Amino acid sequence: MYSSEEILKKVNETLDSLSYERQPKSLYEPIRYVLALGGKRIRPVLMLLGYNLFKENPEQIMMQALGLETYHNYTLLHDDLMDNADLRRGHETVHKRWDANKAILSGDSMLVLAYQRVAQCDAKYLPEVLNLFTETALEIGEGQEYDMTFETRNDVTEEEYIEMIRLKTSVLLACAMKMGAILADASEEDAKNLYKCGEQMGLAFQLQDDLLDVYGDSKVFGKAIGGDITSNKKTYMLINAVNRANETQRSELMHWIEAQEFDRQEKITAVTRLYDEIGIKQLCEEKINYYFAEARKYLDKVNVADERKENLRRYMNQMMNREK
Ligand code: IPE
Ligand code: IPE
Ligand code: MG
Ligand code: MG
Ligand code: MG
Repeated sequence: MYSSEEILKKVNETLDSLSYERQPKSLYEPIRYVLALGGKRIRPVLMLLGYNLFKENPEQIMMQALGLETYHNYTLLHDDLMDNADLRRGHETVHKRWDANKAILSGDSMLVLAYQRVAQCDAKYLPEVLNLFTETALEIGEGQEYDMTFETRNDVTEEEYIEMIRLKTSVLLACAMKMGAILADASEEDAKNLYKCGEQMGLAFQLQDDLLDVYGDSKVFGKAIGGDITSNKKTYMLINAVNRANETQRSELMHWIEAQEFDRQEKITAVTRLYDEIGIKQLCEEKINYYFAEARKYLDKVNVADERKENLRRYMNQMMNREK
């Protein structure tokens, strides 16, 4: 069995070794650029740790794991364009370094490469694997669409937010764990529980991402702080801040949400101060802990010896304490 550190090393080594020989170079350069910027590689690591619960040779499914990482990076190219974000993993985003067309087209090619890599699995798994991947990719598009349309709505509920992040983020973590299980010939029940484990972890993970977008350190987080506040993202924090605010606080919050022209930093500082006053950070942390605990429960249900789960448990704990 491999530790998550060993698995991460293998993921990065194999990813680095992939060559992009095709022309034109200008199409593939941004792909190499974004994949070389680092990133936590959570999806491939989860997939390989999931597989490793049942089987000893995770190298066997490295290509599918890299396929999911390629897919994830494709979503980042388009997401940064949609969110108008200049910084990713501490470097300029693709649309900023090149232009929007590059983010669109290189992104599209990454989506195709992702399919090519996932589809290189043993033929007997192909229908189930492709079905899972396709369903997941459709859901992610749906989640991203909700995320964008929620920007201009002021009546988004907490339930709607949770469903939106389940779609845009959770299902890919869930898919990673389930795909690992499928490729390891796990039982349907185990594969299902790993899917739910990834899903619940994904909810905690996106809540954390939203929290770090306000309270993180840009140098560590690798993204600009306050982007969600400036674009009126309907996060768990904003929804609950509005719901729990007193009259004065609510009118101030609404003023910032409705402001057409504003100083970016001024809005971020003001909304963050309101979050602090209302106690939003702690509320969000409690919700994160809740979903992590749920994720652990689903892992507990998986029918393999407890000591085989240690690496995955440790990795989940690490994820829980992340600052980037
Ligand atoms: C960023 O994902 C997008 C979200 C779903 C929050 P990660 O936080 O996994 O980004 P990298 O790959 O480590 O940079
Ligand atoms: C991203 O959510 C989800 C996907 C990329 C599908 P965010 O927009 O919060 O991710 P970051 O913060 O830009 O990484
Ligand atoms: Mg986004
Ligand atoms: Mg974004
Ligand atoms: Mg974010």
